[in-house]
Amino acid sequence: ALISLRQLLDHAAEHGYGMPAYNANNMEQVHSIMEAAAAVDSPVIIQASAGARKYAGEPFLRHIILAAVEQYPDIPVCLHQDHGSEPAVCFRSIQSGFTSVMMDGSLMPDMKTPSSYDYNVEVTRKVSELAHAVGVSVEGELGCLGSLETGMAGEEDGSGAEGVLSHDQLLTDPDEAADFVKKTAVDALAIAIGTSHGAYKFTRPPTGDILAIQRIKEIHARIPNTHLVMHGSSSVPQDWLEIINSFGGDMGQTYGVPVEEIQEGIKHGVRKVNIDTDLRMASTGAIRKFLAENPKEFDPRKFLIASTKAMKGICQARYEAFGCAGMA
Ligand code: G3H
Ligand code: 13P
Ligand code: ZN
Repeated sequence: ALISLRQLLDHAAEHGYGMPAYNANNMEQVHSIMEAAAAVDSPVIIQASAGARKYAGEPFLRHIILAAVEQYPDIPVCLHQDHGSEPAVCFRSIQSGFTSVMMDGSLMPDMKTPSSYDYNVEVTRKVSELAHAVGVSVEGELGCLGSLETGMAGEEDGSGAEGVLSHDQLLTDPDEAADFVKKTAVDALAIAIGTSHGAYKFTRPPTGDILAIQRIKEIHARIPNTHLVMHGSSSVPQDWLEIINSFGGDMGQTYGVPVEEIQEGIKHGVRKVNIDTDLRMASTGAIRKFLAENPKEFDPRKFLIASTKAMKGICQARYEAFGCAGMA
């Protein structure tokens, strides 16, 4: 059944687990997320970005996810909209049946320029008022996501985004978080604690202390009833990176957030852990490998099954690592 983010994360907080929130754009991704959840009895958060709606088309995306709910009646599913760029985007998702929306007011609608605090409060409060009136949960974002190592906001191609962010911008301020939650009534808050989007997060192998754990604790202490969300949480699996590159790919050497660091974050209040890149890498690696090893094959189902299986492996490992296995 479909449930709201508030319902799911309240349960997660009560039982001390974290929820991976996987981005999905197509049927194979939804299959892998659901098959893994069914295998370990975990609840599910599927999130769709504006890019996902553009890729699949809003009705297709909606029906694929509703199909998952129908096929797996015993698994609670939260259908969440990722990174809404303006209130209208969130309102359309609510109309479309999403049970949770993210209003990302940390950036202007171009999704590149950092916004003012007052702008962020204003747009987020607007979304909360309407969403809560119809039982939909809201995630806000405060602070600019970026690597504490490079100061880069993170871009899909590793080129770096709009220049280097200062240390201050890269960590959410606990007092500001308390004020923001008071003014916006968000159910969940994405915080900047040293992660960035995409595959190119860190240039060197992580040696612990990748995340600002102390900052997570301070924020959690100020807003204990607001669920903390960590974006940019892919671990960038080195085995899939190697497979991609040994079967014709050309990704640069790069490192992500170690699963152990995420577990540490969950211990201190992180409840929603956004993951997209890891599934992209597993899918691409599996398809490259399959096609290289089976040059005569031309039935797409064959390589798509390999892709689904690879993504399922990541999903299941995260459900188990974050403590949500057995919680459905
Ligand atoms: O935060 C961004 C997610 O990885 C979604 O990416 O906008 O390319 O669908 P997308
Ligand atoms: P990754 O790029 O680390 O997978 O993060 C995804 C994300 O935060 C989506 O909102
Ligand atoms: Zn994100």
